[in-house]
Amino acid sequence: MKINALIATKNTEIAQLIENILKQLQIEVVISSDWKSALFSQETYSYYLVDQNTLEPGDSVRVSSTSILIGLIHEASFENARMWMKNGAFDVILIPHELDALKTILEKTSELIRLNRMELLHDDVGGGRVSAFYSAKGGSGKTMVASMFAQCLKVNHEKRVILIDLNAQYGGVEAVFGIDPIRSYYDLRPVIKELSLTHILNVSVNDQTTGVQILLGPANPEKAEQLPEELISKVIRICRANFDHVVLDLPSAFNPISYTGLQEATDIYYLLTPESMAIRSLKQATTLFRRFHLGNKEKLSIIVNRKHRKSELTEKDIARLVDIPIAGTIQSDYFAIQPTINMGRPFYRKKKEKVRTKVSLDVRKIVEKVMK
Ligand SMILES: Nc1ncnc2c1ncn2[C@@H]1O[C@H](COP(=O)(O)OP(=O)(O)O)[C@@H](O)[C@H]1O
Ligand SMILES: [Mg+2]
Repeated sequence: MKINALIATKNTEIAQLIENILKQLQIEVVISSDWKSALFSQETYSYYLVDQNTLEPGDSVRVSSTSILIGLIHEASFENARMWMKNGAFDVILIPHELDALKTILEKTSELIRLNRMELLHDDVGGGRVSAFYSAKGGSGKTMVASMFAQCLKVNHEKRVILIDLNAQYGGVEAVFGIDPIRSYYDLRPVIKELSLTHILNVSVNDQTTGVQILLGPANPEKAEQLPEELISKVIRICRANFDHVVLDLPSAFNPISYTGLQEATDIYYLLTPESMAIRSLKQATTLFRRFHLGNKEKLSIIVNRKHRKSELTEKDIARLVDIPIAGTIQSDYFAIQPTINMGRPFYRKKKEKVRTKVSLDVRKIVEKVMK
């Protein structure tokens, strides 16, 4: 299958750099300094790489659903990125800094085009949200908050929600929901090529009380080793196309699985306990994120968890120490929540039900803010 691309930019140097990347991937290239004439020409391109500098105020670029639009921007601005995404852009690339990221996107997507698996591509556009709960530090509340977040979205907001346990080595979600793990995404390996929603539903369980769909991992270090990253990204994309919300509980370790989860996420919530050691881990994590093009400013926010009146740091201290927005704060309430967790009971059961703990109230507030 022939793959071609239109580069629309007024900057010849940028055009050259991108053309080189495309040529390496055997993609035919047409360069234009005007996106409009090219867009309305007879030819349909597989890719439209459109530089912001070719747009007039009020212009909005849209391409057919069988093509991929990538916005090339010069300044990392949230508003700007959002404008592109709203118009159906597949991604937005900050040039020239993110050319490596562009290359990765082109590699992945051109492979799917060649395999004629375009549907997997477009799972990515306009699908549900993928919220990843991460922290470089264990015991920060990733598993607990991810589970509560999923429950609250389903119970209070009536969303279709799937919670995926990406702690492939040790698990954790099964305990919070009190389920006996039977099958997991590990069992999907034989069907990876033709993977579909039915396969995923077959190996996941629906929580009776809340209705949250739960997909567990193998909870086995040896099996975790044998999981192809491709399986994880396929699972997330198919879920994204079929659920309103995909919630990911990530391990603290930075490994191929957590990397894939972070990369597929539309929102990353970093769980931070209010203490200086946790800030140190956060700084190390953000250095890694930057190096691997993960969690750009628009997707990453902090949830302060286990706040206590004797906490070492306040939200103000945290805001001063790190340059990442704070999505919300959850108080520490160990004695109130531990029985619920130990018995595998849900934190939310019915809509508009009175919440029983400070923790579930705080999580509900975060969910409400996110849903706006
Ligand atoms: N806000 C909180 N108040 C009280 N206990 C909490 C709170 N957040 C987490 N915990 C407890 O801390 C422990 C670790 O939480 P967990 O979600 O397993 O962390 P992680 O997944 O980041 O390792 C659990 O026993 C959990 O119940
Ligand atoms: Mg955990």
